[in-house]
Amino acid sequence: MEYRPLGNSELTVSVYAFGAWQLADTAYWGERADADAEAAVQAAIDAGVTLFDTAESYAGGRSEEALGKALGTRRNDVFIASKVSPEHCLRPEMLRAACEASLKRLGTAAIDLYQVHWPCDPARFENAAAELMRLKDEGKIRAIGVSNFGARHLDAWMQAGTCASNQLGYNLLFRAVEYEAAPACRDHGVGILAYMPLMQGILAGRWDRVDEIPEMRRRTRHFSSERSGTRHGEPGCEALLMQTLEAIGALCRELGEPMARVAIAWLLRQPGVTSVIVGGRTPAQLERNLAAASLVLDDAIVLRLNAITGPLKERLGANPDMWCGETERRIH
Ligand SMILES: NC(=O)c1ccc[n+]([C@@H]2O[C@H](COP(=O)([O-])OP(=O)(O)OC[C@H]3O[C@@H](n4cnc5c(N)ncnc54)[C@H](OP(=O)(O)O)[C@@H]3O)[C@@H](O)[C@H]2O)c1
Repeated sequence: MEYRPLGNSELTVSVYAFGAWQLADTAYWGERADADAEAAVQAAIDAGVTLFDTAESYAGGRSEEALGKALGTRRNDVFIASKVSPEHCLRPEMLRAACEASLKRLGTAAIDLYQVHWPCDPARFENAAAELMRLKDEGKIRAIGVSNFGARHLDAWMQAGTCASNQLGYNLLFRAVEYEAAPACRDHGVGILAYMPLMQGILAGRWDRVDEIPEMRRRTRHFSSERSGTRHGEPGCEALLMQTLEAIGALCRELGEPMARVAIAWLLRQPGVTSVIVGGRTPAQLERNLAAASLVLDDAIVLRLNAITGPLKERLGANPDMWCGETERRIH
C-alpha cells in the first residue's frame, strides 16, 4: 500500500480509502450482512488501508455507528473521516453539537478528518471555519476538510480558514472537476479525495444496458432527464456513455485487468489526487479493488484512457455537480 500526505495536514493516508456509506444505508444500497461489513473493514486494515470515510447523514448516523463497531479495538490504527451536513454549519453551536453526536456514534474521542459535506452559504464560512478550528484546538478533530467545493467556494473557504482536503466526485466517466475544482485544490495545496471512483458499480462493468442499472445509480447527468429519479433537466448522453464504457472495457481486456481496478488506478495517476474512496462492503469486492492500489498505469495507458473518455468529458461540460443541471448546481 502506498501512503500520501493529506494536503497541509499532519496526516499521511493510504491511497486506497474505504467508503463506509455502504455499511448501513440499506435504502440506497440494499440489504447488507453485518458480518460482511465487519469482515471487509478488518480485511481493509489488514491490507494497510488507513482512511475510512463516513458522514453523519449516511443512513441517519448508522454508517458512523457501524464503522465504529467494525473498527473495534483497531480504531487507533486508522484515520476516521466523517462529515458534517451543511445545515449544521449555519451556526457554531449546531456544528459543535453535530460533531459531538458523530463522536458518540463512532465511539471515539476524536475524528481525524472532519469535513463539511456540501458548501453552505459562503456568508457562513467564516463562523464555520472558526468553530472547526476551535474543535481542532480542543482535540475533538485532527484535521479539517471540505467536500463538493468548486473553485469559487474553495477560494472563499481558504480566505475564511483552512482545510487539508476536498472530496470530489471524480472518475473516468465524470471528469468535470478537471476544469476548475481540481486545479484550485492544487493551487491551495489541498488534497483531493476522489469519491464514486467506480461510478457506483457502472465502472466495474456490471451492466451492459442502461435499463439494467438500478434507478438510484441512474440519476446523474449522464442519463436522460426522462428517467425517474433525475433532477438535472438535461438530455443526458446515454449512447455516448455506453460507447465510452465499451471502449474502456476493450482496453481493460487488452491489459488483462478488471475495469474496476483500472478505474481506480487511473484516478491515482491524476494530479492532486491523494486518495480514492471506494465503496464496497464484501471482503471479496474489497480484495478485487485493493489490487488497484498496486497497479501503476503507464503514461501511454493513461493517455489512451483520457482520449477514450475525452468526448464524454466535453459533453458533460464543466459543471462538477453530477446530479444537478447548470441552473441548480450546488458546486461553484
Ligand atoms: N462527499 C460526498 O458527497 C460523497 C458522495 C458519494 C460517496 N462518497 C463517499 O465515497 C464512497 C465511494 O462512493 P460510492 O460508494 O458512492 O461509489 P463507488 O465507490 O463508485 O461504488 C461503490 C459500489 O460499486 C460496487 N462495486 C464495488 N466494487 C465492485 C467490484 N469490484 N465489482 C463490481 N461492483 C463493485 C458496489 O455495489 P454493490 O454494493 O451493489 O455491490 C459498491 O457498493 C462512499 O462510500 C462514501 O464514503 C462521498
